Amino acid sequence: MGFNAIAIDGPAGAGKSTVAKMLSERIGYTYIDSGALFRAITLKVIKLGIDINDIERIIFHARNSDIDFSNNKIYLDGANVSEKIRDNIINTTVSYIAMIPEIRDIVVEIQRKIASNKNVVVDGRDIGTTVFPNAFIKFFLTASVEERALRRYNELTDKKKHTLEEIKKQIIERDFIDANREASPLRQAEDAILIDTTGKSIDEVVSEMLYYVFMKG
Ligand code: C5P
Repeated sequence: MGFNAIAIDGPAGAGKSTVAKMLSERIGYTYIDSGALFRAITLKVIKLGIDINDIERIIFHARNSDIDFSNNKIYLDGANVSEKIRDNIINTTVSYIAMIPEIRDIVVEIQRKIASNKNVVVDGRDIGTTVFPNAFIKFFLTASVEERALRRYNELTDKKKHTLEEIKKQIIERDFIDANREASPLRQAEDAILIDTTGKSIDEVVSEMLYYVFMKG
C-alpha cells in the first residue's frame, strides 16, 4: 500500500502553511511547504546576482543546489534559510522563478522523494492538480484579498519598509502571475474541497479540515 498525501492549494496569504502545519501535527503526517522550496531557489538566484531573465543560469544553479525541507525548516546548501526566504525581495521575485518549467520539475521531484516513504500534508499552488493528483484529500483555501494582504503584512520581518497597500498590490500581482502561467498554474482541482477562510480563526479552519479527513479516512 502507498503513502497518503493531503493537498492544500490556494492563493498567497490564504492561511495554507499555518493550517497545513497544524493539521500535519494533529494527524501525525509530515508537512511539506512547497512554496519554501521555490523561495530557497529564488534566494540562491538573488545571492548569486543572477539576472531573472538568464533562465539557463537559473536552471544550472538550481540543479546544483542542495535543497531540503525537513522538521518544518528549509535548508539551502546545508544552511537553515527559513527566515531569509521570508524577506520581501523574495515575495516579489519568486513567481518569476516558479514560472520556469525546469524549476517546477526540480521542486516536484523533491516533494515526491520526501513523500515516497511517509504520509505528507503539502501546501502550494499545484499540489492537487500536478504534484499529487491522486492525493487522498484535496483542499483549496481562499480568503478576501484584504484579509490575505493583512495576514502577509503582519508576517513581514521588515514591516517598517512597506505599507499594507503595497503588500496588497504585490499579492494581486503574484496571484495573477501564478494563475496565468503556462506550467501548472494556480488552479482548484475538480475534486478539491473549497474553504473560504475569511473571518475564520486558524482553529476553526483546522477543525473543518479534520472533519473532512476523518469522514474520508
Ligand atoms: O506559498 P508561498 O507564498 O510561500 O509561495 C511562494 C511562491 O512560490 C508562489 O507565489 C508561487 O509563485 C510559487 N509556488 C508555486 N507552486 C507551489 C508553491 C509555490 O508556483 N506549489
